[in-house]
Amino acid sequence: MESFLTALAAIVGLGSLIAAAIIGARRTSRPEQWVDPSSQSGRSVRVVPAQAHPPGRGRRGGRKDRDGDLLPPGATINFAAERQSAGIDEILAALDRDLVGLVPVKTKVQEIAALLLVDRARRRFGLVAPRPSLHMCFTGPPGTGKTTMALRMAELLHRLGYLEQGHLVHAMRDDLVGEYVGHTAPKTKRILDKSMGGVLFIDEAYYLYRASDSKDYGQEVIDILLQVMENERDKLVVILAGYKDRMDEFFTSNPGMRSRIAHHLDFAAYDLDELTAIGQLMLEETNYYLSSQAQDAFREYLTSRMAQAHFANARSVRNELERARLRHAHRLAGDLERHWNRDDLMRIEPEDILADDADLFDSAEALEL
Ligand SMILES: Nc1ncnc2c1ncn2[C@@H]1O[C@H](COP(=O)(O)OP(=O)(O)O)[C@@H](O)[C@H]1O
Ligand SMILES: [Mg+2]
Repeated sequence: MESFLTALAAIVGLGSLIAAAIIGARRTSRPEQWVDPSSQSGRSVRVVPAQAHPPGRGRRGGRKDRDGDLLPPGATINFAAERQSAGIDEILAALDRDLVGLVPVKTKVQEIAALLLVDRARRRFGLVAPRPSLHMCFTGPPGTGKTTMALRMAELLHRLGYLEQGHLVHAMRDDLVGEYVGHTAPKTKRILDKSMGGVLFIDEAYYLYRASDSKDYGQEVIDILLQVMENERDKLVVILAGYKDRMDEFFTSNPGMRSRIAHHLDFAAYDLDELTAIGQLMLEETNYYLSSQAQDAFREYLTSRMAQAHFANARSVRNELERARLRHAHRLAGDLERHWNRDDLMRIEPEDILADDADLFDSAEALEL
């Protein structure tokens, strides 16, 4: 009997070793590529892998690496060098370059980076530095850069050594809440397992809570999250996102959740100039430009779109430019006889912007929110 049990234990042990090896292999073979979150549907769970790191960068300076080699009390450290060695200057510079406006959000990100740099430095001197709480809440209307910033934040936390992998798992209510008794906990745990070492980004997190329905399984998710956010805070950062007013209501009904969120970042709707600049940036990235009449047409278009329901800020800009590209292509390719030059292939004209087929796309855009 005893030898049978020993054999069984050996088989189970071997099995879990193999399973761990498979999971490990999967993790290391993750494709490291950038995925534009807005190019995918927001309906199901998405895992966005961490960005590729330049050799020798990013993994250096992690929490674990530092623990062994304490600095003597008389030593000094320099934050320019610290930022350099963690490779965060390039992340912060890229934030500034790639994202128009968002000044208060960028300032907050700088503050968080500073906190973590000092925390790391303290640890190198052997000073007490309990890991600061890093769960966050990103509030703001659709298309204001919340998901984009969460991806950058995951990367930043990874480079500073606070997240092992720095990937991001995007989830919504339906990815977490089950449909029958006993379904919710395993469903939520599956997402949590996927998120370990990275960021769990819960979009429209307030849908987890239904005040009118005390039997709703969403409460079970909230309870599990509260526990994991406390107990696994070394391995996982949770970012809740959604409209500000609804998130405030959610926190009022769930004070436990509020108390676990250390950083609130508010993303304001963009004004016309910012939207125009965002469009300009997107066009430059794709080698297109607006003729001067098209610039006027684009501003006119944005002004009317801003007043409509379902306007989704930078996402609407991106979508409209996609449509302009289609119309531009149609205009050029439709004229079989004419010769077009390089500039023609890059230049968007007013007729590519202001077309009366806009209604056709509006419902599609509403679905993307
Ligand atoms: N400030 C900005 N500058 C440039 N592009 C932006 C900015 N904010 C958002 N975008 C772009 O708009 C799209 C939608 O942004 P996203 O982060 O998905 O918004 P949210 O998560 O708030 O709905 C993305 O393609 C993103 O790159
Ligand atoms: Mg989003």
